Amino acid sequence: GDVAVLVPAAGAGVRLGPGGPKALRQIGGEPLLVHAVRRIAAAPSVHTIVVAAPPGDADAVRALLAPIAELIVVAGGATRQESVAAALAAVPPGPEIVLVHDAARALTPAILVEAVATAIRGGEDAVIPVLPVVDTIKEVSADGVVLGTVDRSALRAVQTPQGFRRSVLAAAHAAAVDPLTDDAGLVEKQGVRVACVPGSEYALKITRPFDLALAEHLLNAARS
Ligand code: C5P
Repeated sequence: GDVAVLVPAAGAGVRLGPGGPKALRQIGGEPLLVHAVRRIAAAPSVHTIVVAAPPGDADAVRALLAPIAELIVVAGGATRQESVAAALAAVPPGPEIVLVHDAARALTPAILVEAVATAIRGGEDAVIPVLPVVDTIKEVSADGVVLGTVDRSALRAVQTPQGFRRSVLAAAHAAAVDPLTDDAGLVEKQGVRVACVPGSEYALKITRPFDLALAEHLLNAARS
């Protein structure tokens, strides 16, 4: 494998309601992070996995994941971007392709990891998985009044894993000023072309209680 996958998993998961760090919430009796790492490790291109754990939980996360895959665990930061930067700094020399994948997208299939890696290997500097937007999208004022309707045909919902040539991601993080919600955003600011590949419904970001319930159902359906 020529790919390193960084897994930011240090988020508090406030939008899920009470119950501790999001990556450690369970579906099917196992933490989201375990599901995510198992699928990443199943992708043949993956050589190195670096997890950014909730600060204070790094030892517990190391013990949790040791049976699943050989990997590196670092302490995450106060923002997703800091967590990714900490993980990136821990990648050993070797892999020239780096993917960044949210632990919260716990059911992402290994084939999506491969598709993103393949696009980078094919010459792209940056690649993101995307889905079309199904809902009508409107811009709304702070007090809840519609300002206008956006043309959704040009819009895409963006998932992870996002893939990068290693040097491109390192340069983008070194230059980063304002924290962004994804890594492709940092790379765009550097003027780098970002290509798209088809995403997967299974790569949904488990964010709210409904998503957790949905993921549990998807997991049970796949097992029965
Ligand atoms: O908060 P959000 O849903 O955007 O988090 C996306 C991913 O980034 C999650 O896997 C979360 O654990 C991770 N994260 C992190 N460090 C933070 C905040 C979020 O690793 N400080």
